[in-house]
Amino acid sequence: MLDPHDLADLCEATNAAIVEGGGFGWVEAQSRSALERHFRGVMLVPEREFFIARLDGQVVGSAQLVRPPRNNEAQGFAAQLTHAFIAPYARGFGLARLLVRRVEERAAAMGIRVLNLDVRATQESAITLFERLGYVRWGSHPAYARVGGETVAGFFYYRLLEPQHGRSTADALGRIKT
Ligand SMILES: CC(C)(COP(=O)(O)OP(=O)(O)OC[C@H]1O[C@@H](n2cnc3c(N)ncnc32)[C@H](O)[C@@H]1OP(=O)(O)O)[C@@H](O)C(=O)NCCC(=O)NCCS
Repeated sequence: MLDPHDLADLCEATNAAIVEGGGFGWVEAQSRSALERHFRGVMLVPEREFFIARLDGQVVGSAQLVRPPRNNEAQGFAAQLTHAFIAPYARGFGLARLLVRRVEERAAAMGIRVLNLDVRATQESAITLFERLGYVRWGSHPAYARVGGETVAGFFYYRLLEPQHGRSTADALGRIKT
């Protein structure tokens, strides 16, 4: 659990990102208490792992790694990277790149072979970030989100992960037809 100071910084970073254009669910700025309740709840969900980014010690962003529930054995090799953001005042320092790579390392260490994510078609920085980091766009959804009364398309991506030890992903998954 984050200490109260870090939680306050996380809420400030979240609202700054929402006001600037969001991209991770919320469209309107939220009250401090609503955000604190949200993040406390997120950290209690067993399938979710929460990652924070710091700049000079201050929390300025976060990301979540979501594994499938235990009953979903068929998709146990895959996970979702969601809600990745860096506050506008901390962008351009390479923090998002580091954050995504840390999430990937953790996922690979847990045996995850495929990381999935989706993003609004309007989030150009995020699209560039993920494509530069090797994510493959496999589809788009014309009615992905509603923002400011407009329907916005979304893009879907995956990236294969390689574990540090053990069988390669090509070995584990076999030939993938694309
Ligand atoms: C996308 C986002 C996380 C990038 O954060 P950041 O810390 O500034 O990104 P980094 O400094 O790590 O940049 C890494 C790479 O991302 C790409 N990138 C980041 N910002 C960019 C921009 N404004 N325009 C184009 N490419 C950009 C670049 O490829 C960059 O590498 P480079 O500097 O070597 O060219 C941030 O802009 C953000 O929070 N946006 C809103 C939320 C969002 O869209 N989240 C993703 C969907 S869940």
